[in-house]
Amino acid sequence: MKTLKVHGSKGISRIFIGERLQNLQKYTDSRQVVIITDRNVRNHYSKDLPSCYIIEIGTGETMKNLDTVQRIYLDLLRLGADRSFFIVGIGGGVVSDITGFVASTYLRGLRFGFVSSTLLSQVDAGVGGKNGVNLRGYKNLVGTFNQPEFVICDTDLLKTLPEKEVRCGLAEVVKHACIGDACLFSYLEAHYKKALALDRDVMEKIIHDSVVIKSSIVNRDERESGERMKLNFGHTLGHAIEKTTGIPHGEAVGFGMLVASRLSFKRGWLSKHEVTRIEALLKKLNLPTRLKVDGNLVIEAMTKDKKRRSESLNFVFLHGIGEAFVEQIPIKELGAGINEIIRL
Ligand code: GLY
Repeated sequence: MKTLKVHGSKGISRIFIGERLQNLQKYTDSRQVVIITDRNVRNHYSKDLPSCYIIEIGTGETMKNLDTVQRIYLDLLRLGADRSFFIVGIGGGVVSDITGFVASTYLRGLRFGFVSSTLLSQVDAGVGGKNGVNLRGYKNLVGTFNQPEFVICDTDLLKTLPEKEVRCGLAEVVKHACIGDACLFSYLEAHYKKALALDRDVMEKIIHDSVVIKSSIVNRDERESGERMKLNFGHTLGHAIEKTTGIPHGEAVGFGMLVASRLSFKRGWLSKHEVTRIEALLKKLNLPTRLKVDGNLVIEAMTKDKKRRSESLNFVFLHGIGEAFVEQIPIKELGAGINEIIRL
């Protein structure tokens, strides 16, 4: 097992990579524990959950709203939860967002931790301390910055994931490699087959290296005033592509990273060879590198999602594989660039 730390303004979060769900009770100080989880986790792992009160939510991004939050608040009220209660979210990004938000706001804050059951949440969503829910179609409009006390990344839980979810999680690993770790990128090029097959050693290495990138950025800029924006590589377009086409998050982010790489090449910052390597790795991971999308609709979705009007936005470019930076780009230029690239 490997341990990493995130130093948040309100406390330290410990990430345990290779720890097991069955050992959860070691981390909760035997306090009154309430688990928040989803149907999938409960179906697969009910025998591994400690005996405590369990709140189950439905699956999918549409559950990530204030109605679900309110239902959980009412359950906690019925249970007579006070500040001695410890909340554990077991699941993917939807569960960790909701758990973190509920625990950070109920009684102005209860202690909480996560067991991440998807690759996406082990390498990304479970780590970093941003917890939020959607409002009126705006993603994560309402939320908090608050670090979980622990995040358990149990790689055994990945075995029950659909193949598509593994690919989508790997897209976030590629993101971390592109923005901060050229060696991880080369490792993925060499070991992508084992990664797709969920080889335990390969998974522990890539989850660890991903979390090193994410946690070190969050340690320097928890509240996203600068460097943390690099973690949005591929996401500015990815979210808009996801909204416009309905394809899964990881696939949309993969395509968003490819467009961002090509824009970096067009501006003279990234070599053609590096763009080709990024495209080839995405292909090896069975992530789409060709999409039929209307660039104008993507731009429209993107500007709507920005929650405010502006002529330009912060965009993450690459100087090379493993080196990201943020630069303003006029929305018009971005739109023209996407259309040009999509037509290739
Ligand atoms: N919880 C996800 C993040 O902080 O980025």
